Amino acid sequence: MEKIAIGFLGCGNIGCGVYKLLETYGAQIEANEGVSFEVRRILVRSLGKKRALPIPGHLLTDRAEEVIDDPQIAIVMEFMGGEEPASSYMIRALERGKTVVTANKMALASRWTQIVATAREHQSGLYYEASVCGAIPIIRAINDSLQANRITSVMGIINGTTNYILSRMSREGASYDEVLADAQRLGLAEPDPTADVGGYDAAYKLSILSTLAFHRHVPVNCVYREGITGVTPLDVQCGKEFGLTLKLLAVAKEENGVIQARVHPTFVPNAHPLASVSDAFNAVYVDGHACGEMMFYGRGAGDMPTASALVSDLIKAGKNKKHPLPAVCAEPCVMADDWSCVHFVRMLAKDEPGVLSYVSGKFAEHGVSIASMVQKGARDAQGCVQVIFLTHKASERAVRKALAEMDDEKVAQGSVIRVEGE
Ligand code: HSE
Repeated sequence: MEKIAIGFLGCGNIGCGVYKLLETYGAQIEANEGVSFEVRRILVRSLGKKRALPIPGHLLTDRAEEVIDDPQIAIVMEFMGGEEPASSYMIRALERGKTVVTANKMALASRWTQIVATAREHQSGLYYEASVCGAIPIIRAINDSLQANRITSVMGIINGTTNYILSRMSREGASYDEVLADAQRLGLAEPDPTADVGGYDAAYKLSILSTLAFHRHVPVNCVYREGITGVTPLDVQCGKEFGLTLKLLAVAKEENGVIQARVHPTFVPNAHPLASVSDAFNAVYVDGHACGEMMFYGRGAGDMPTASALVSDLIKAGKNKKHPLPAVCAEPCVMADDWSCVHFVRMLAKDEPGVLSYVSGKFAEHGVSIASMVQKGARDAQGCVQVIFLTHKASERAVRKALAEMDDEKVAQGSVIRVEGE
């Protein structure tokens, strides 16, 4: 069987994972799928670096053009990460009519319009299952299995690092800083964890997912984003007392053509399937008008789970006579400037007559209705107590306005955490 020549851009853990899968499983792929691949060239930063696998030296190059411009290479697999130079390399490969298979959510989300337009113009293949949630076939599901649906919402735990941190904070009552330091020691969080804990990684992924689910380009800068750096053990504990579990949730909803896309710490009721997704696992919960609610669960990161999705895309690219492109309408999306959900509000209130009615009065002035309230613990030295409110579904803007107007002699605000999935 004729082998399809492929080139790698990058050869870190994920690239080595793909190489290993092709080495160990290539014959079976050929037997089962009727396609065969040959790695022809691998772009690396340092030719002399010791790698996890014994890759023959003649495959390695430190010159990108030896991959991108080689007319024999039909498929370029990109695992460099980052926006540049990965985006420019992918665009150049697409311009040369090559198929690109990538795991790079940052490049794809940040340069979506340009990358997709280039693929369309040159009728080149573009495959990116591995860019969102590693091994979970969520892009395949949305594009190839749920086309008969109007998808109304996509909610997911799409960052494993933050889910690991929040799961341990919840189990152990530990602080964010303690668990982060531990996760860094274990190699589960990067030395600079900003992309994960700041919610950026999840925002890139949500931009891609919501664009595909709603068939409108949802630019990453339209995704509202809050990370987990301000999460306190007290909030995690108070949430538990209300039967809620804290997650960094990516939420995208579409209603009457208006889209909301947001990433922020979110409480979900313990009975919701997303509440039981722990540690570094990912899950995406999709609601479609015909399929109903469904959840996709699995490993969202790591060399072999990511390589599993990349090699699946490679096989699909190798077999396809015509490459599919995202079914996304050219009209710009209309983004919501407010949203409605239950809010968990923790504040430190003066423990004196009239303060609670003052707070509930302020909420009422802005149309925010309170569902329940708990006063916790004893007074502190300033005569204040922790008070937690759960609102009924309320406009985010109204909750913020009500809080901003409250007299700080009477209440100090602790935190506002949205609740979804109730
Ligand atoms: N750092 C990501 C995570 C994996 O923790 O899920 C790559 O997107």
